[in-house]
Amino acid sequence: MFRQSFIATAAIAVAVTGWAGVAQAKGKMTLYCSPQIEWCKLVVEAFEKETGIKVRMTRKSSGETFAQIKAESRNPKGDVWWGGTGDPHLQAAEEGLTQVYDSPMKSQLHGWALSQGKSANGKTIGIYAGALGFGYNSDILKKNNLPTPKCWADLTKPAFKGHVQMANPNSSGTAYTTLATIVQILGEDKGFDFMKALHKNINNYTKSGSAPIKAAARGENTVGIVFLHDAVKQTVKGFPIVSVAPCEGTGYEIGSMSIIKGARNLPEAKKFYDFVLGKAIQERAKEAGAYQVMSNKAAIPPKEAPKLETIKLIDYDFKKYGSSAERKRLLAKWDKEVKVLPK
Ligand code: F6P
Repeated sequence: MFRQSFIATAAIAVAVTGWAGVAQAKGKMTLYCSPQIEWCKLVVEAFEKETGIKVRMTRKSSGETFAQIKAESRNPKGDVWWGGTGDPHLQAAEEGLTQVYDSPMKSQLHGWALSQGKSANGKTIGIYAGALGFGYNSDILKKNNLPTPKCWADLTKPAFKGHVQMANPNSSGTAYTTLATIVQILGEDKGFDFMKALHKNINNYTKSGSAPIKAAARGENTVGIVFLHDAVKQTVKGFPIVSVAPCEGTGYEIGSMSIIKGARNLPEAKKFYDFVLGKAIQERAKEAGAYQVMSNKAAIPPKEAPKLETIKLIDYDFKKYGSSAERKRLLAKWDKEVKVLPK
């Protein structure tokens, strides 16, 4: 009797509420996404399909997302921050904006993904890695009789005036990684001299890190300072973009993920967190033109992914450059000493 009336009630409930009601019962969450928008969309679609949880997603650059989470900290609106460079995730952890989660998926991850978590006492985790560099449009380079750039130093040559684009390091994790990389390679004084010389050649500081190479692909810019996987994406699409791993060596990112402190949908946030660390979804990144190296040890990297072991990588000090004091200090110094200079 009890069983029969339960079934009848359930049937009526489904008839009345329809699919939306059932989906709602499975939960919802808000995702702040910082990698390629195509990849954000793919992951959201796959997660919704697998779990029935509805995801409200917005894509913003790494520094922008950090600023948003900080601004909302008294009344958090987001649940998970997925992707974007690791430095602002570390800063968010230090500033108490994100929370610890000990995912059962951790045993499946590379050491570099876990070490990012250790630096933040468990408040973040690595989801992908990618090397910094630049890409150029070989047609435009030829048309302008420019020498082939191979090193960071080449980008400060007067011949490149108006030909180089990078993002603003306040909004973009790519550009902050560039600033921190140059400071680590050259030391702070020479590093800032380099940034000032580079500034003379910059035609535009964009908001998003990958915009400079998209502009180069469209023929609106010559050289874009970006992560190499973002340059490769344009080459794969058929544009005349050549990627360069600079001769002096270069930095890299550990793209990261964190659960926002005060997340209103914590069980759903944890489900998403575990889901995106899985082999199957990480292997699908290439379908969205995301050619980073993935953190799940079993995930086969896309054949297009730049081979990190062949690139001269510096020993990027994530702990230092992801610390709140250092990131704030470097950005303020860049604003005060570089951004304001005439070109
Ligand atoms: O386009 C993808 C990507 O380069 C990620 O690898 C990286 O974490 C993110 O973009 C950085 O974007 P932004 O520089 O806009 O913060």
